[in-house]
This record gives sequence, structure tokens and C-alpha cells, in this order.
Amino acid sequence: MKNKNRQNRKGLYLPAKVEILDVVDMTSDVKLFKLERPKSFYYSPGQFLMVSVWGAGEVPISITSTHEIRKDIELCIRKVGAVTSALHSLTAGDYLGIRGPLGNRFPFEEAFGKDILFVAGGIGIAPLRSLINLVSEQKEKFGKIALIYGSRNPSEVLFLDEILRWRDEGIDVYLTVDVKTDPWKYSTGLVTEHLSKQRISFKTCHSYICGPHVMIKAVMRDLSLMGMPAENIITTLEAHMKCGVGKCGHCYTDGKYVCTDGPVFNYTEIKQFGMSNP
Ligand SMILES: Cc1cc2nc3c(=O)[nH]c(=O)nc-3n(C[C@H](O)[C@H](O)[C@H](O)COP(=O)(O)OP(=O)(O)OC[C@H]3O[C@@H](n4cnc5c(N)ncnc54)[C@H](O)[C@@H]3O)c2cc1C
Ligand code: FES
Repeated sequence: MKNKNRQNRKGLYLPAKVEILDVVDMTSDVKLFKLERPKSFYYSPGQFLMVSVWGAGEVPISITSTHEIRKDIELCIRKVGAVTSALHSLTAGDYLGIRGPLGNRFPFEEAFGKDILFVAGGIGIAPLRSLINLVSEQKEKFGKIALIYGSRNPSEVLFLDEILRWRDEGIDVYLTVDVKTDPWKYSTGLVTEHLSKQRISFKTCHSYICGPHVMIKAVMRDLSLMGMPAENIITTLEAHMKCGVGKCGHCYTDGKYVCTDGPVFNYTEIKQFGMSNP
């Protein structure tokens, strides 16, 4: 999937200093950052930024907002280590660095006239949210739209209010958790257990998947077995990254750079990585 966005060299190599407009606590370890959007900064669903905190380092983070809908940039970040902890210590009015937008994007125009299935696990809803909000603005161009979103437990569900709004607007939403605690009025079980319940045409549908590595593998395999063409099964991959622009080789696997050839790949490409074999 070719990157149709042309980025200038400054945006690729030199971080832009942007102000944090707001920080929202989403769960015990996930925060939503709302950033000032620099002039002439255009991005598409699926793209990511290299986000830097001075003195701490730089990490790749997907853009969760939708360019056509919001004037700011939103990033949904889980605290897992040094840089993400430094990010979590920042508040509104602080500054951070961003390079990008980087990488390719979700190829959604190919799904015009067809059903769409989104499958998200955990914080994997973040990159998909950018596309779901774009698709949701132009629902008349697609067939049925369904979302299966799995979380470990109810307290880890992200963007619940927004997801329920998508449901009210006509998206077939299926929420599930591994471990049920009260009050939880939706489903339990892994997302793979709910794939076959979706009332969509699997043979022509386009699916967009993001979540833990093991979930992505299982969902891609199952959708393929259910007859979905490999080219229509789309995911976005995480890899260890340093430069984000195809120079350092950290994300290189089997002839592909996840940062510049991806992070969005279809199942045919993923199988070439050997990722489909557990
Ligand atoms: C294209 C892309 C988009 C991403 N989008 C998001 C996002 O929207 N929100 C978000 O919270 N995170 C996202 N990540 C993951 C995020 O980049 C890592 O969590 C971050 O780099 C960890 O940095 P750290 O210094 O806090 O932790 P570290 O101390 O570097 O690592 C902590 C732990 O996380 C593991 N880890 C670090 N980087 C990665 C990685 N890239 N992939 C898998 N495991 C990793 C390490 O092995 C270690 O176990 C994305 C990664 C990529 C490649
Ligand atoms: S992160 Fe450096 S080549 Fe991809």
C-alpha cells in the first residue's frame, strides 16, 4: 500500500514543537492527549507520529483523531516504559515534539459499496477510531458496518461513550470482555468467538483489525477461513522503531520496513512476513 501523503523533510527529520491542549485520563494506565495541530499538517487514518519528550526519548504513536473532523491531534497512549511514563507526566500547557505524519494509511476507498468489519482489541481501538469516525461520516457509501471490540475487563474499555454513539448512528457494535465484572451488560469471550455472529457478507467484506499480535493473527486466519479475500483483511502492525523513516533498520522484516511500507498491511503481505504462522 503506497503512502499517498507527501511529507516535507522538516516534518520527517525535525520534530515540531507542539503544545498539549488537554490530557484526559481514560483508564489507570491510558491517557488521551489533545495536541495543537501545526499549520499544513495533514494526516490520514492509519498514520503515526514519532512523539518526543525532551530528555526522555521518542516513541511511535498512532494518530487516533480524524483530520476531517477535528482541528487538534489526538493520541491515546498507554504507559508501559520510560518514554510513555514521561509522556504521562505532562499536562496541558506543556510541550512535546512530533515528527510526521509517518507511514501509509488504511485503504478504505476500496470498501465503497461493501460491508466493513472493524475488529479491535485493547488499545488497538486507537488507530481504528481515526478510520471509524471517517467512515461513520460517510456511511451511505458503504454497506453494513460492524465493530467487534474486545477488552480484558470492563474498566479497560476505551472510548465507550463514543462507541455507543457509533451504535446509535447505525454501526453494529459488539462489545466483549475476557473477564466480566458488574455492571457489564455486553458480551464475554474473545473477539474471535464473535466473528461468525456478524451479519455481513464475509466474501466481499473489508476488515480492519488492530490489537495484540496474537489477536491479529487469530482474527486474520479465521476471517480468511470464512472466505474473506486476503487483500480485504487489513491490519496495522507494531514494531520496534527508532527513526520512523526507513533509515535505521530497527523495524525491517523480510524485505519490508514497517515504518515506511506500513504500518498498514493486508493479509497477503502479512503472510510474507511469516506472521500468520504461530
Ligand atoms: C506504528 C506504531 C504505533 C503505535 N501506536 C501506539 C498508540 O497509539 N498508543 C500506545 O500506547 N502505543 C503505541 N505504540 C507502542 C508504543 O510505541 C510503545 O509502547 C512505546 O514505544 C514504548 O516506549 P517506552 O519507552 O515507554 O517503553 P520501553 O521501555 O521502550 O518498553 C516497555 C515495554 O514495551 C515493549 N515495547 C516497546 N516498544 C514497542 C513496540 N513498538 N511494539 C511492541 N512492544 C514495544 C518493550 O519491549 C517493553 O516490554 C505504537 C507502536 C508503533 C510501532
Ligand atoms: S524505524 Fe528505522 S527503519 Fe523503520
